[in-house]
Amino acid sequence: MCGIVGYIGKRDVAPLLLEGLQRLEYRGYDSAGVVITSPKATGLKMVKAKGRVRDLEARVPKRFTGTTGIAHTRWATHGAPSDENAHPHLDAAGKVAVVHNGIIDNASELRAKLTAEGVEFLSETDTEVITHLIARADAEKLEDRVREALRHIEGTYGIAVLHADFNDRIVVARNGSPVVLGIGEKEMFVASDVAALVSHTRQVVTLDDGEMATIKADDYRTYTTEGSRTTASPTTVEWEAESYDMGGHDTYMHKEIFEQADAVDRVLRGRIDDRFSTVHLGGLNLDAHDARKVRRVKILGCGTSYHAGMIGAQMIEELARIPADAEPASEFRYRNAVVDPDTLYVAVSQSGETYDVLAAVQELKRKGARVFGVVNVVGSAIAREADAGVYVHAGPEVCVVSTKCFTNTTVAFALLALHLGRIRDLSVSDGKRIIAGLRQLPAQIEEMLEREDEIKKLAQEFAEAKSMLFIGRVRGYPVAREASLKLKEVSYIHAEAYPASELKHGPLALIEPALPTVAIVPDDDLLEKNRAALEEIKARSGKILAVAHREQEKADHTIVVPKNENELDPILMGIPLQLLAYHTALALGRDIDKPRNLAKSVTVE
Ligand code: G6P
Repeated sequence: MCGIVGYIGKRDVAPLLLEGLQRLEYRGYDSAGVVITSPKATGLKMVKAKGRVRDLEARVPKRFTGTTGIAHTRWATHGAPSDENAHPHLDAAGKVAVVHNGIIDNASELRAKLTAEGVEFLSETDTEVITHLIARADAEKLEDRVREALRHIEGTYGIAVLHADFNDRIVVARNGSPVVLGIGEKEMFVASDVAALVSHTRQVVTLDDGEMATIKADDYRTYTTEGSRTTASPTTVEWEAESYDMGGHDTYMHKEIFEQADAVDRVLRGRIDDRFSTVHLGGLNLDAHDARKVRRVKILGCGTSYHAGMIGAQMIEELARIPADAEPASEFRYRNAVVDPDTLYVAVSQSGETYDVLAAVQELKRKGARVFGVVNVVGSAIAREADAGVYVHAGPEVCVVSTKCFTNTTVAFALLALHLGRIRDLSVSDGKRIIAGLRQLPAQIEEMLEREDEIKKLAQEFAEAKSMLFIGRVRGYPVAREASLKLKEVSYIHAEAYPASELKHGPLALIEPALPTVAIVPDDDLLEKNRAALEEIKARSGKILAVAHREQEKADHTIVVPKNENELDPILMGIPLQLLAYHTALALGRDIDKPRNLAKSVTVE
């Protein structure tokens, strides 16, 4: 999704902004642009290009110098990817430049009105209306002009504004799309994502919705869109700049798959309480008395986070014996769901920005529900909106498709389930058993990742498939769903996930040698049932790859996964399938970190 980066200080701004844009590339985009100025300059200089940041870089002229600027990566919503539609957008006089993330809902009405007043639009974007509104605003100060423009705007925005007549400052505003200020030494940054800042400063101020800021080289101030001052003290970003580098791997996806043992270690660190065979979750704000009152748990998320939520729901049912289920947040928010005061709502999101999840949280809160967040990005919109929550501490995830965050989120759910369970009916010995299982995870993940060569070989065969079926039963079903999603996202091979129990009710008709099946076969109480499904597929000459705790004789190949406690098995069983998706995509020459048409965080509807 769109990215913003801005700088004001003494350094040569263009290379800084281009570097910032590169750090935002992972979010997914289709065009980019940059506009700069300097205190002595009389105007703005702008370059835009459809395509990659490197295409933009190639267009930047030699004498493109300045010390203040804003830049953008665009993900098309209004109007196709093109040079004209790329941000920044300038007014007719070339004085006002705006970059914008989000969607202006009333853009077409505003466009019609402005056109009737004689404004000529140069792009098809919704953003351009903001530029013209600022240019036409009747106020002395730039801040007041921006405020006046925003009064007409309905929708979501994170914007940065540069004005040729006010070139000692950048004015920014936020409503629904993240804006973060980076505080440096006599220089200031702004971005939509800390990834663009951390190589320069770790001191940040995150704006709230309805907040604006003026940044100058040596100063910043924040205020509401109504004009009253707000106090914003900087916080320190924990993530290191190196976490955003490839660290010797060829892709971020590979790097992030191999970071999982460390990441799981982090989500567990400091949380296990051996004395009471439970866990401490500092941000939960739920005392035992309240926890006992919870009658249902409803988990909401999108994509991979939804799948992690499905695993979480099963863990909560099993360990805490509270009815729990997961639902795509995108569906939930539109179906006028019954909101129940005794239900604990849990919003899951790696980025903490996904619009559908955020909108679901806001709707729930409006109706008086209590909402927990299970989020990776500290201080993100969903983390701030939720009443309480658990951070998953996976560290930055750059590849568009989620791997280590998925795993860490499932572990965070295991912690939540154990916590709720030990307040309710989970025995001390079961608590101990789960804790021992959790402690084994990092080493078992390492062990799993050592099988990479074996999985790579299998991937060569699967790369030829036109379609694949993934099956699993109960605990294995969300694992099958996530593995199928991973494969289609990175390799573009069609894949479908089905509960193994439903085979006879339809998908069996598809089975033939050309349709490989990946079956999740844990060594639990359903082992014999799963074996029967393998028999049914074999009997129809289907090719089978089993992911199991021991060799499956009906399978053509078994990836043997280390056994943990039954409840925790799903955490490990997905990992070899991340590698399978990765190597299949590699064999097909796909753009693994940036699959076509997908974005890392979907901040629009
Ligand atoms: C996008 C990404 C997915 C991700 C989903 C939810 O669709 O491409 O990889 O799972 O958003 O993102 P979140 O940040 O809320 O977990």
